[in-house]
Formats: sequence, C-alpha cells, structure tokens
Amino acid sequence: MAMTGVLRPGHAQVRVLELDKAVAFYRDVLGLVETGRDAQGRVYFKCWDERDHNSYILRESDQAGIDFFGFKVLDGPTLDQLEKDLNDYGVETRRLPAGDLLETGERVRFTIPSGHEIELYATKTTVGNGIPTINPGPWCEDSERGIAPVRLDHTLLYGPNIAEVKKIFVDVLGFYLVERVLGEDGVSEAAIWLSCSHKVHDIAFAEYPEPGKLHHCSFLMDSWERVLRAGDILSMNKVPVDIGPTRHGVTRGCTIYAWDPSGNRFETFMGGYQPYPDYEPLTWTFDNFGQGLDYPQRKLHETFLTVVS
Ligand SMILES: [Fe+2]
Repeated sequence: MAMTGVLRPGHAQVRVLELDKAVAFYRDVLGLVETGRDAQGRVYFKCWDERDHNSYILRESDQAGIDFFGFKVLDGPTLDQLEKDLNDYGVETRRLPAGDLLETGERVRFTIPSGHEIELYATKTTVGNGIPTINPGPWCEDSERGIAPVRLDHTLLYGPNIAEVKKIFVDVLGFYLVERVLGEDGVSEAAIWLSCSHKVHDIAFAEYPEPGKLHHCSFLMDSWERVLRAGDILSMNKVPVDIGPTRHGVTRGCTIYAWDPSGNRFETFMGGYQPYPDYEPLTWTFDNFGQGLDYPQRKLHETFLTVVS
C-alpha cells in the first residue's frame, strides 16, 4: 500500500493525578523513554523503537482521562488538504502553533461527535530509536528496560454518536472499517475498529453515553513472549491487571489490559492480521461479543464495558 494521507497514530496526551508517581510508572515499569518536559509541566515520552520525539505525554490534573489523540500525516500540503476537507464536511478545526507541543509542528485540532479531541500534524523532530541508521543492530539498552513496547499502537475511545464519528474517519480522513460489533438490535454498531494503514486498528470507538472517555491507549510488543513478560513485570510491580494475558477474537490481537496509578487503562498488545481497504469488514454479533473480547474464555468482562477514565 502506498502510504499517503494520515500515516499513523502519533501521540496521546493523558491526564494523571500525581505526576511524579506517573512518571516513575511509565519510565520504570512500562519502560518508556523520557524525552522532555515543557513550561506547562507536561512530561514527554516515546516508546524505544519510535523515531519521533514524543508519543505519550502526561499532564497532571485532578481527573484522569485523555486530552487528545494525534495522527501524523504525510506532509504539510496533506495537512492543509485534510483541514480543508474537514471544514468542507462541516467539522470546525483550529490550529495550534508549532512548538506548543515540544518538537512538534503546527497541529490541526477538532472535536468529533463522541466528544474527543483529535489532532493532525505533519512534523515532529526525529530523534531516532537509539540504533544507528547505518548498519543498525536489532535492539538497544532502552528496549530491555521495563516492559519496553516498540510503539504507541492505537487507542480505544468511548463516547456517543460513533456512527457520525465513523463517517468523519472514513469519508474525510481516509480510514476504513476493519471490524465491528453490532448492537442488540442487530443493525447499529456498538463498536468499530478503524485503520489508516495495514494494521488491524489505528483507532477504535465504542458507543457510550458519556462523551470524551478513554478506554485505553495500546502499546505494541513485538512477540507473544514479550506480552507474557509484560504480565510478569506488571505482577512484580503489583500493577492492577484488568484482563489477560489472552487473545481477542476481534483483531486476533494478544493482549493484557492494566491500569496506570491514576486509573487510565493501557494495553500491551501484539499480533493481529494484516487487512487491506478492499477487505469486507468482519462482524461480531452482540450475543457473541464475549468471544470477540476474550477468545479462549468467551467472557464479556464487566470492567471492559463499564470502567473508563
Ligand atoms: Fe486495544
């Protein structure tokens, strides 16, 4: 697939209750790489194998949750075009100046009907992954500290009006539907998995009455063994685990869900198949969503449906 338009998830800004505790958790247990702090007190992290300056930003607040989720687009003209396309569709956008987020260019921000803030941007300073670009080795010191995911993979957001959200992502931003769970009526979509790439999902949404909620941000591991090792590290550090290690029926991904010290759920994840935009989306019926969520146990975990930040 020629990569044009929206390239990939680029960053998430997540609210945490106690910054120092959160920084220690994400640095030492999750094993992210701290790359900077700004005048607003925000702390910037990246996963070890990401090459751009930051992907996961912590902001101290009295309420956990997500401030915004951003996608990197191909280049400046693409950013301008997508902004115009959003406006033509009726989505209001606003520009945030370059440097507002450390080492990041101008961002186009908009609110989607689920109540979430989504951003597009074209530039972020390349800092590399700790491995040279000439005769690179396969890993480095940062890849062996803590859980050490390779990249920020996707997010699942809970909010209302996901049918409208889907139209914006598919009709305007060039995403395609990979999988969906039908509601009890057998017609409406209760949850959707959307891709802008060759991955099983770059963003997902579930219908939920309260707007703007975070279900989880997901971090990619490069093997099932590394997911199991993540489970060991979570237990060694007494981190509250929600689900797993197990495999989803939806996306075929292998997963562990757990909570950070502020109650934000995160996922350590690997696998899934490689979809293309011409594939027919896969559908899960409402009565079988337990298998979609946890394939071996066929269990509809109550927390998955009700606990968000
Ligand atoms: Fe996920």
